[in-house]
Amino acid sequence: MALSRAIETRKPAAERICCDPLAERFLGAKYRMLLWGRPFRDVVEGQIERRFAGHHYYVIARTRYFDDLLQQRLAGGAKQLVILGAGYDSRPYRFADRLGGVQVFEVDHPATSTAKQAKIRALIGEIPANVAYVAVDFTVDTLADKLLARGYRATRPTVFLWEGVTPYLDLAAVDRVLSFVMDSAAGSAIVFDYILRSVVDGTCTLRGAANEFAKMGRTSEPLSFGIDEGQAPAFLASRGFQNVVDVGAQELSDRYFDPHGKHRYIKPWWRIISGEVGSALGVVEP
Ligand SMILES: C[S@@+](CC[C@H](N)C(=O)[O-])C[C@H]1O[C@@H](n2cnc3c(N)ncnc32)[C@H](O)[C@@H]1O
Repeated sequence: MALSRAIETRKPAAERICCDPLAERFLGAKYRMLLWGRPFRDVVEGQIERRFAGHHYYVIARTRYFDDLLQQRLAGGAKQLVILGAGYDSRPYRFADRLGGVQVFEVDHPATSTAKQAKIRALIGEIPANVAYVAVDFTVDTLADKLLARGYRATRPTVFLWEGVTPYLDLAAVDRVLSFVMDSAAGSAIVFDYILRSVVDGTCTLRGAANEFAKMGRTSEPLSFGIDEGQAPAFLASRGFQNVVDVGAQELSDRYFDPHGKHRYIKPWWRIISGEVGSALGVVEP
């Protein structure tokens, strides 16, 4: 993830889809070596695409989509930002000027959260006062208890980002998080991505899906949660969310790649969905 963002960020401003200057600083020395020189980076980008069809272009388009949505929600009056499964998400630092007084909660698995804090201190020094780290295991902990203990206020319109996480959880854990979000203030919104259930089953025939299924099956994070194709808007609406927007490869391509005259394979079995609690802040679509 961070390598793809770093490669894209090194491109000229007019060319790149997303910009995340901290991404390359999260990388270990072995990966940073892969960033030397544009011709070399182009080869690495091609290699990632050959090994994991559609992955690189999905990651950079997803980063941009979440960035756009975050900025839209901040402009619309969001007062808190909760990043669920934050990993190497750098938005609390990249968007520091636009966050102003917005309280940020970086929620992550305890092991990942501890490692991230150490990394951030090494990179930027003190953690900003508006950023709280919250150690949560979505499969066992109660998100509400952990967030409230760190100062989260259920009465404040909040934007929740949940990027690259749901495939590794089960339905019960996903539903617990969505239920918590539904209890947040009117005007709050969540955006998350998900995979098609056929990938979890290993029956998806889309190019590259079987490869991802096989690869993740060999790791400690096998794919677990998916939604049937075409059912995600109903899935979110049935849980009470409004103004649901569901986008995939086609919409991401239309929005970010086609204006650059680029036609790239974005893995179509990953999709991004957003929804609102109430409707005080207007539309969700960035
Ligand atoms: C693929 S990474 C995505 C990180 C980041 N959101 C991004 O897009 O770069 C998955 C993240 O989900 C977190 N995660 C996975 N399972 C979790 C769980 N049961 N509870 C809390 N966090 C979890 C991991 O710690 C990791 O930060």
